[in-house]
Amino acid sequence: MPKWLNTAVFYEIYPQSFYDTNGDGIGDLQGIIEKLPYVKSLGCNALWLNPVYDSPFMDAGYDVRNHKQVAQRYGTNEDMKRLLDTAHEMGIRVLLDLVPGHTSDTNPWFQEAKKAKKNEYSNRYIFTNSVWDAPSEYRLMCGICERDGNYLVNYFSSQPALNYGFDEITHPDWQLPCDHPDCLATAEALKDIMRFWLDMGADGFRVDMADSLVKNDKEKHATAKIWQGVREMMDKDYPDAALVAEWCYPERAIKDAGFHMDFYLDHYGNGYSRLFRYLDEKSENHAFFHKSGKGDITAFLDEYVPAYELTKDLGYISFMTNNHDMPRATYYMDKETIKLSHAMIFTMPGVPFLYYGDELGMRYQQELVSKEGGYSRTGSRTPMQWDSSKNLGFSEADADKLYLPVDSEEDAPTVENQKDDANSIYKVVTDIIRLRREIPQLGNDSDFEVVYAEKEKYPFVYRRGDYVIFVNPSGKDETIPFAEDIKDTVYTIGKVDFKDSKATVCASSLAIIRTK
Ligand code: NOJ
Repeated sequence: MPKWLNTAVFYEIYPQSFYDTNGDGIGDLQGIIEKLPYVKSLGCNALWLNPVYDSPFMDAGYDVRNHKQVAQRYGTNEDMKRLLDTAHEMGIRVLLDLVPGHTSDTNPWFQEAKKAKKNEYSNRYIFTNSVWDAPSEYRLMCGICERDGNYLVNYFSSQPALNYGFDEITHPDWQLPCDHPDCLATAEALKDIMRFWLDMGADGFRVDMADSLVKNDKEKHATAKIWQGVREMMDKDYPDAALVAEWCYPERAIKDAGFHMDFYLDHYGNGYSRLFRYLDEKSENHAFFHKSGKGDITAFLDEYVPAYELTKDLGYISFMTNNHDMPRATYYMDKETIKLSHAMIFTMPGVPFLYYGDELGMRYQQELVSKEGGYSRTGSRTPMQWDSSKNLGFSEADADKLYLPVDSEEDAPTVENQKDDANSIYKVVTDIIRLRREIPQLGNDSDFEVVYAEKEKYPFVYRRGDYVIFVNPSGKDETIPFAEDIKDTVYTIGKVDFKDSKATVCASSLAIIRTK
């Protein structure tokens, strides 16, 4: 386990939208380099960059054309090397995005695989043996190439699935077993890409759709085996490099596959969404973090606690404020509630991730037309809001040349107008990250224990070592029994009172207290 993960706090950057230094309306690596001091000032000491590789951008770069080349619009490989070196000098680690499940259909491997004549790459992707063979249980692109066969896609139509083989073989004429030399070659090609960036100085990878490698792999054991091989390579040659899975199944990702971290994602109705996202008006089933007070903390805990217990000695479950795939928190919660939710995220165990602009409470721009395959995700990918200058400080380009428009509201939050505002989300986020750093018991490794959590009731109270955190996102004051000694109140949002062996957690309030 890389030691630096003990104290890592990540900042996710969507490179397109962070900072444009050459005036072309799109963010670049030089922009990230120039803003490293800002990342550091937030208290973050690690970055995750969404894909920066050469791509036709049908899926914002998750459709890789050249795995070993930085996309021209972001700069050059030399710029990446400079970014890594500069970040390291500042004590900041950098994870790149690894897309192992598919490539762009413009990738040279696929160009070869499409050819009728058999070649080295004919089995790099998954083709049926004839265009007339198109079983409906598979997502196939039909009648596209000179090769007589249809190919499987992993995500969008432009993203053919790489071939790591099938666990259960239902069509032996075209499905290969995982130990077929051509499937093993795909895994080797993946490792080769990883080595390229790790040798340059990258500190590891966020792994896209990490569970999608082997097909018909119900329990994901065959997929896990491939990651174990990757982990072996890393332990041997890059012991300080880290892997975080986009999987959202800690038992499989951390325990079976050997990932150091696994994201807690907002899958519909799961624990994360029942905390921060779920808004089912019909059933009146709300997220716990909502003023309605109709949430149920046990919907989260019943899922989280067993997963945490099972994996806490092996790796980290990663909470995130948001990511580039989901509507920003502002779509679901008001400002007061967001402060509480972020305060919880940064006082939970695991390695936390802050999505760029979430420290400002950037809005989800719901009305935007899809950009680069973003669709409903586009509204969370708008330019970072730095200050009150042109394009909110993102770019010198004319507004119509920007990757996406900047927030046009007069009260758009910016770093400039939030950072000295005592009432801002920025203040809470930076305060709590600082506390997390100062008090290791609030950090990544320290224990977690539920103190008070009742079905459909508020507040939620949890312990981190000698510290107890009380949070009540509902619109109503709540009083519960609490008889422990209070040595110190370390942090409060709103108002929490302790009297007569009771704690009253007022509406929209949070407190962190020390008990020993
Ligand atoms: C998950 C990524 O986060 C998302 O942005 C992308 O579109 C899909 N995987 C496909 O790679």
